[in-house]
Amino acid sequence: MTGGADRSTPERDVAAVAAGVTITVCPDGPLLVRGPAEVQTADGERVEHARRVIALCRCGRSRLKPLCDGSHRLNHFRDPASADQLDRALNHATPASPGADRG
Ligand code: FES
Repeated sequence: MTGGADRSTPERDVAAVAAGVTITVCPDGPLLVRGPAEVQTADGERVEHARRVIALCRCGRSRLKPLCDGSHRLNHFRDPASADQLDRALNHATPASPGADRG
């Protein structure tokens, strides 16, 4: 980790999209983040990395959270991540407020 708090701003989010960051939901597996994604801690501290693809755990069983360590296979995680499911989640569900689970 380096630097101080470097919180995301809408302008930077737009820049990230323009730079080609994509998130792929793998059936029965992790979220693959491709492109020049910046990683921050919950406190907004930037974490340096040189990865072109980051696999984020979606099953909750990784010992390297938030990264996927392949444990989803051993634990038979199942979630098809269908297009309908993603559409419902992205366009019809009420999103949780960022930081709502922090005291
Ligand atoms: S998605 Fe791979 S360990 Fe959780």
